[in-house]
Amino acid sequence: MTEPAPAQFTGPSSFVGPDRVLSGVQPTGDLHLGNYLGALVKFARLQHEIPTFIFVADLHAITAWQEPAKLKGQVREIAAAYLATGLDPKVATIFAQSAVPEHAELAWVFNCVARLGWLDRMTQFKDKAGKHKERESVGLYTYPVLQAADVLVYKATKVPVGDDQKQHLELCRDIAAKFNHDFDAPGFFPLPEALTQGPGARIMSLRDGSAKMSKSDPSDNSRINLTDDADTISQKVRKARTDPDPLPETADGLEGRAEARNLVGIYAALAGTTEAQVLAEYAGQGFGAFKPKLADLAVAVMGPIGAEMRRLLDDPAEIDRILGDGADRARAIAAPTVAEVKKLVGFWAG
Ligand code: ADP
Ligand code: TRP
Repeated sequence: MTEPAPAQFTGPSSFVGPDRVLSGVQPTGDLHLGNYLGALVKFARLQHEIPTFIFVADLHAITAWQEPAKLKGQVREIAAAYLATGLDPKVATIFAQSAVPEHAELAWVFNCVARLGWLDRMTQFKDKAGKHKERESVGLYTYPVLQAADVLVYKATKVPVGDDQKQHLELCRDIAAKFNHDFDAPGFFPLPEALTQGPGARIMSLRDGSAKMSKSDPSDNSRINLTDDADTISQKVRKARTDPDPLPETADGLEGRAEARNLVGIYAALAGTTEAQVLAEYAGQGFGAFKPKLADLAVAVMGPIGAEMRRLLDDPAEIDRILGDGADRARAIAAPTVAEVKKLVGFWAG
């Protein structure tokens, strides 16, 4: 079979298992406000509603070069960020992807389910590879296939992520549907849903309202890092690009004002309110008045997170204990899925 699967594969799933939340972040640099509002804050909220699995994506990280001597430390930093933003290891399952070999095992099978045509459409690969895709690792190309395995090895149904991951989740659903179809196992895998709702789904750079806030932006002033101290956070907010006009009465008035909209959106997300409520409070005021309020709010929310991360990282053995315990609990769910998959595929070892 070399053709992309026809449309009937993407119909509703007959999956009847329990709801499960799964998400992860790569250990490839300092986390920032976009990661926090787009992803981490949702993990902490969801853990109390649905069984939640949150991992550190170290297999994904090596799709681009990582210093072997530093990788473990980078994993611990993301784990510390999870804990500092409210994930409770007694409630959620927190682990490193490389500690659960079933992710990679299922990814191989999915590499044989996904079609080249599907992967050729992935915009994140095109953005990351740029003009020289022949020099990129094959892993970077099949990155979204491993991501599908991350989700489906737990038969997860909900995936809290930022807006930029929507396309990867569509691919995940296509892979699940085609697997269920090809191996005559209706409803074996669920068709997971990306949870991207909320004002934090796409936080933009503080220097350019048309670019996503990102770890890879060369300008540190473009983002607020989780580990920035209070002075740095205030300075970055004060230096953020804006326009000379006052804030409008309604969200319609933010049309064509990308930087203004971004700062209002950040305020709303940090305060747990809506753009409309922020505008109701600040309409008519200029950024000279709004920015100090935003800076205070950002320091109040982010300051304690950075401090808690530093405290946790002083005790790496405790982080390793939490990750080890999480890996055991994760494997208890992942191993039976892979055993069933091996049977369905007809492997000798199945
Ligand atoms: P980055 O793009 O900075 O490298 P990652 O790709 O590691 O960040 O993203 C980790 C999580 O944070 C993902 O769920 C992603 O969708 C989310 N995320 C990243 N940047 C943003 C942003 N600017 N706004 C909202 N969510 C974001
Ligand atoms: N691709 C995600 C990112 O760049 C990280 C990730 C890897 C992920 N596997 C996942 C997110 C599974 C959600 C579910 O942020």
